[in-house]
Amino acid sequence: MYKVIQLDSNNLENLHFLRAKVLRPGLPVQNSHYPEDTHPETIHLAIQNSDNQICSIATFISQSSPLFNEERQYRLRGMATQELYRKQGLASMLIKKGVSLISRNKFSLIWCNARVSALSFYEGLGFIPIGEEFEIDHIGAHFVMKKLL
Ligand SMILES: CC(C)(COP(=O)(O)OP(=O)(O)OC[C@H]1O[C@@H](n2cnc3c(N)ncnc32)[C@H](O)[C@@H]1OP(=O)(O)O)[C@@H](O)C(=O)NCCC(=O)NCCS
Repeated sequence: MYKVIQLDSNNLENLHFLRAKVLRPGLPVQNSHYPEDTHPETIHLAIQNSDNQICSIATFISQSSPLFNEERQYRLRGMATQELYRKQGLASMLIKKGVSLISRNKFSLIWCNARVSALSFYEGLGFIPIGEEFEIDHIGAHFVMKKLL
């Protein structure tokens, strides 16, 4: 049994631990802190299992990209599911919940820097790639992707 929870920005230790483990393996956990983590408009969502373990996480940040004209944009960052819990729809559940929260506040676009390895995952959720592939140091090839809300 899984449930979506919203994490308090004062209590992000488990989120940072999972981000580091999945997205920045081998690097200090501080590398997985984002400057916007404690911003009042930032939304941290997680999926918890029946043992209260966090299986999947996503962070939604009120941040515009110069690539888009929409006035109210959110950025999706730190999308990660523990390996054991993948392909069960958990990440999709988080994105759908995040999109529903953001849409209520009249935001009209969500974007992210998507790893090429996760491109089809995002496409399945209605995101489309924009522009050219680009490289992020130590992580690899990415596309900017967007979804209109
Ligand atoms: C990408 C990731 C977050 C997906 O998490 P997940 O909980 O397994 O995703 P879901 O179960 O909701 O997957 C939804 C759909 O996408 C597909 N999918 C999941 N991961 C995929 C991937 N890497 N490539 C292609 N398709 C993928 C699933 O098969 C599923 O398809 P379906 O609806 O047809 O069954 C997870 O694989 C992960 O943490 N990867 C490592 C970190 C990463 O790359 N994060 C993204 C950074 S941009």
